[in-house]
Amino acid sequence: MELIGEKNSWDLWVEEALKNLESKKMFLPLKPVKLTSSGHQYEDKDEAQTKFDQNEYETFNGIQPWDRLAVQISIPESLFQQLKNEIDFTTKNERDEHEKLSSKEQQQEFKKLTLFAGNDFLGLNRHPTIAKAIAKAAMEHGTGPRGSPVICGYTNYHMALESSLAKLKKKEACLLCNSGYAANVALISAIGSVTTLLSAKEEKTAIFSDQLNHASIIDGLTIAQRVGGVELFVYRHNDMSHLDALLTNCKMKRKVVVTDSLFSMDGDFAPMVELAWLRKKHGFLLVLDDAHATFVWGKNGGGVAEEFNCENDVDICVGTLSKAASCLGGFIACSKTWKQLIQIMGRSYLFSTAAPVPLAAASYASVTVASKESWRRIEIRRRMQEFQALTGIPVTSQIGIIRIRFLRCANTRTPNCSAKHCKVTSDFDGSAHNRGCRKAWSNHIQIPKASDSDQQHLQALGFGLLRHFQFPLFMGFALS
Ligand SMILES: Cc1ncc(COP(=O)(O)O)c(C=O)c1O
Repeated sequence: MELIGEKNSWDLWVEEALKNLESKKMFLPLKPVKLTSSGHQYEDKDEAQTKFDQNEYETFNGIQPWDRLAVQISIPESLFQQLKNEIDFTTKNERDEHEKLSSKEQQQEFKKLTLFAGNDFLGLNRHPTIAKAIAKAAMEHGTGPRGSPVICGYTNYHMALESSLAKLKKKEACLLCNSGYAANVALISAIGSVTTLLSAKEEKTAIFSDQLNHASIIDGLTIAQRVGGVELFVYRHNDMSHLDALLTNCKMKRKVVVTDSLFSMDGDFAPMVELAWLRKKHGFLLVLDDAHATFVWGKNGGGVAEEFNCENDVDICVGTLSKAASCLGGFIACSKTWKQLIQIMGRSYLFSTAAPVPLAAASYASVTVASKESWRRIEIRRRMQEFQALTGIPVTSQIGIIRIRFLRCANTRTPNCSAKHCKVTSDFDGSAHNRGCRKAWSNHIQIPKASDSDQQHLQALGFGLLRHFQFPLFMGFALS
């Protein structure tokens, strides 16, 4: 990207867009609210940001009983049987029938299962330090204040959380949103607004988006296109030659590349080193959606950019607090000027209530715990190796999209099935980018009925290794 003094061209465009907003009296600053806790009144912004006593955040050196509890669930016996017998609901009537049945099943027997489908990759959802933080903040402050961050929803808790995330991502600033979805929509719509805010509106912004990007990016792009500030180019999934060709042929001045860092439906990483190289070649703004990798990858949990040692090549990094942090919320780590622009032009930010204080407090605790309990990141890698050794299936990340079927030997669908791990198949309907959804990308591992010891071994793979968007057929990993 072209450098003018200390700033690159994107910094200058954003500054100009902000000046334009100011001149139109549309600049909306955040309004930090000082919360009084236990009689303590914060005196100023800086004090409010540093008032969280790190000694309150107890951490542990290894797996504790609550880690196991975090993945234990119960489901009605009848649902378990349906899953086991691979009965899929294909019509609305079948689904309605099942729901009617389930509502009568309040008193019926339940089956204990180990849940691998959640996004709680670090297994933090029962961590006592996070639970204490949410309870304490709720007792001290209730669930308010209620409002958009530019009205009254932005407190010292939110500010502390933003600072800790900016530090984690090694960026100047951070903007909290109430979900990862809202963060992507706010960011992409703000990027789209740059064109319309510049004085010379001669040209749109070119946005290059990976074919398999998350729906929230696609929805942000739809808003940006509607406003008229962007032209969209979709490149084949992780295909850097295709991206390079599209960039080379594009004569537009302002270019952005946006990609998931770790793809939620496939578990593969974006090619970070190649992206960094292309960024140098073409001078685009690189936006990374690090939803699935934040807290999990990189030595400090900084995500994929830290893992691949290219944090300086990522201009803006989106993340979520709803997955490995086990809370709820999203964020955008960026420069101070980008933060200002997004807070005004990111509609899902501006027109939505900020996360309640207890959630911000829990997320702050979670960021602290996740960063200090680095053994969790090591543990995940160990689980990946164990899984690969056990199944022979190569795993590159903590996400594996896998349907597991415990087959009876005479199963008609795979009559020749004799090997333990007999089949991995996949198919993909890649036409879905514009619809914001993926239809079919499914891996099937088909395993003959597993022995008890296999089942126990599979259970021992632990938290967050496997997930599946649709039907959790992996529930073959029954505990009992
Ligand atoms: C890549 C990606 N980005 C963003 C999101 C949205 O995050 P949230 O669930 O916090 O809205 C998801 C959620 O699945 C995701 O997979």
